[in-house]
Amino acid sequence: MSSEHKGVHKATVSFSDGTPAIELPILKGASGPEVIDIRKLYGQTGKFTYDPGFLSTASCNSSITYIDGDKGELLYRGYPIDQLATQCDFLETCYLILYGELPNPAQKSDFVHRVTHHTMVHEQLQFFLRGFRRDAHPMAVMTGLAGALSAFYPDSMNLNDPHQREISAIRLIAKMPTLVAMAYKYSVGEPFVYPQNNLSYTANFMRMMFATPCEEYKVNDVLVRAMDRIFILHADHEQNASTSTVRLCASSGTNPFAAIAAGVACLWGPAHGGANEACLTMLNEIQANGGVAKIGEFIANVKDKNSTVRLMGFGHRVYKNYDPRAKLMRDTCHEVLNELGLQDDPLFKLAMALEKIALEDEYFVSRKLYPNVDFYSGIVQRAIGIPVQLFTAIFALARTVGWIAQLNEMITDPEYKIGRPRQLYQGAIARTVTPIAQRG
Ligand code: ACO
Repeated sequence: MSSEHKGVHKATVSFSDGTPAIELPILKGASGPEVIDIRKLYGQTGKFTYDPGFLSTASCNSSITYIDGDKGELLYRGYPIDQLATQCDFLETCYLILYGELPNPAQKSDFVHRVTHHTMVHEQLQFFLRGFRRDAHPMAVMTGLAGALSAFYPDSMNLNDPHQREISAIRLIAKMPTLVAMAYKYSVGEPFVYPQNNLSYTANFMRMMFATPCEEYKVNDVLVRAMDRIFILHADHEQNASTSTVRLCASSGTNPFAAIAAGVACLWGPAHGGANEACLTMLNEIQANGGVAKIGEFIANVKDKNSTVRLMGFGHRVYKNYDPRAKLMRDTCHEVLNELGLQDDPLFKLAMALEKIALEDEYFVSRKLYPNVDFYSGIVQRAIGIPVQLFTAIFALARTVGWIAQLNEMITDPEYKIGRPRQLYQGAIARTVTPIAQRG
């Protein structure tokens, strides 16, 4: 057991099958529920635990992000998300997530310099990208591009070398915006726009997305700030599906780029990062079917036990209260729509009406289903001009720092082991192969 673990009590586990009772340590973290340490369970009893979906299992030690789902609290390195979203920019938040403390001005300027000077990608990556169909989903492209970085930057592949890990971290944070913008430009048949180092991280991303050789992009501070906030709100979220995927993938000792590609692939799913795309598709469908007047019908369909329709952007495995990121995203949504003169945007009005009804409906109240961050982020991105299909790629861009920090934390944890879950086998027991001619 690590010296950081404070064993406060013990749990006695007794068995009705004659197996002798055993005592298991109970560990206490800085916050959150106590954790029963079951590492010796199998060795001492020959039994595993069963926990599909990890509903009751802490898979690792972590000091990066803390969520209190009942309170609706989210902290990065101890700082509340609303303070970070209103007082810091994304690169400061990246520094905090990676190194544990907010940077002072000198540290920030050094970090910004390092990231900024890695934003260009190897020219050959363009040709790799050009191999994709133009109508490929951006997440298919991003899964490929993230993995392909390992073929272009072989000098920062060794996970066990802190220096190489550091360079790959900076490269990934710096290059993801360039790659997302390239994937977008390719999909619309426009020339790639190279990064420009005198712009901020987020302004640079917006310019690479929206500038063309014939028209310079005018930086709009409100929109840049909104996009920066989207990045901050998505930067880390403790042991979610994609982060756990990155950890599991990296636990085999693979290189950082391959591990991040695994995270991108996982994030693609509609129950995870794909939810903002799914949410906007849902709002568009309701709007096309009659808008606010049809909300009642839609909600009835969601509540119908025989239907598989879900209210996308609602519900969360951990938050059983309003997702704190959703509140900030709703404010940002107001700011962006006002800036663009879209106050009467029908989808925003529909989303607010849907939220109001769902928050009062017994079905959602009793299941503690509240809006999550994706409920409003799609509307913001659409207003900025981001195509719906690109939403999840932007989420991946923002989450890259969290994935890297979690990967670094795992590799430097003295208790780190290759991830290898066990199973409750339900298949056929050992049997003998019948020669094919005798099989009926
Ligand atoms: N709409 C309608 N009903 C829902 C929803 C929803 N969005 N989410 C959960 N429920 C219901 C389930 O049907 C179930 O009801 P039951 O007890 O009558 O069977 C109950 O609430 C519990 O649902 P689970 O699926 O067991 O909850 P879980 O914690 O496993 O799921 C999840 C969390 C996957 C996020 C779910 O709420 C969902 O599918 N939401 C919509 C997709 C979404 O917005 N995902 C984004 C998550 S945030 C992120 O990844 C950044």
